[in-house]
Amino acid sequence: MTARLVVLVSGSGTNLQALIDACADPAYGASIVAVGADRDAILGLERADRAGIPTFVAKVGDFTSRDRWDEALADKVAAFEPDLVVSAGFMKLLGPAFLARFGGRTINTHPALSPSFPGIHGPADALEYGVKVTGCTLFVVDEGVDTGVIVAQTAVPVEDDDTVEVLHERIKVAERSMLVDTVGRMAREGFAVEGRRVRFGA
Ligand code: GAR
Repeated sequence: MTARLVVLVSGSGTNLQALIDACADPAYGASIVAVGADRDAILGLERADRAGIPTFVAKVGDFTSRDRWDEALADKVAAFEPDLVVSAGFMKLLGPAFLARFGGRTINTHPALSPSFPGIHGPADALEYGVKVTGCTLFVVDEGVDTGVIVAQTAVPVEDDDTVEVLHERIKVAERSMLVDTVGRMAREGFAVEGRRVRFGA
């Protein structure tokens, strides 16, 4: 059985592209049934269009409250009946209505080694702190900011003359392979969350 993925993006969508490429192989075990975004005219949506994947947009500003947006986003995602929701560079926190429906099967990739440097400035915060090793984390989304149960992590060195952009690009190379490897395993083997651990296998 092929796992149905809905991928959420806000920007360039290179993580999405890595998943699109992986899903081209039927042995990968997953297919992207839709791509959603919180804004228009982003490269991520263009990548989906090019691959013939249906897209949808839910902008916070189009709703009377953050909660209404969250409910609408959950409705749009639900229409595609996903097995797994992958937040891949989606720069919004998912709220209670969304997690009531998709909690436990929504994962997010973060450009730092959790629990260090949560939030939207992971690479900049790591550089500012002066750590010598940072990386990326794939986790099951909960109501906190990057606090969910960790599924996978990859360490990445920080070099002395790194800028935020250079460091983030190095992290993103590791992030794409972590995402592709781990989503493939989750799709093919199934997984269970037990306390703070994720176990692969049905
Ligand atoms: C990725 O590095 C992802 O971890 C990060 O945005 C980038 C998106 O790149 N997400 C966050 O910082 C969320 N807190 P992409 O659009 O090229 O996939």
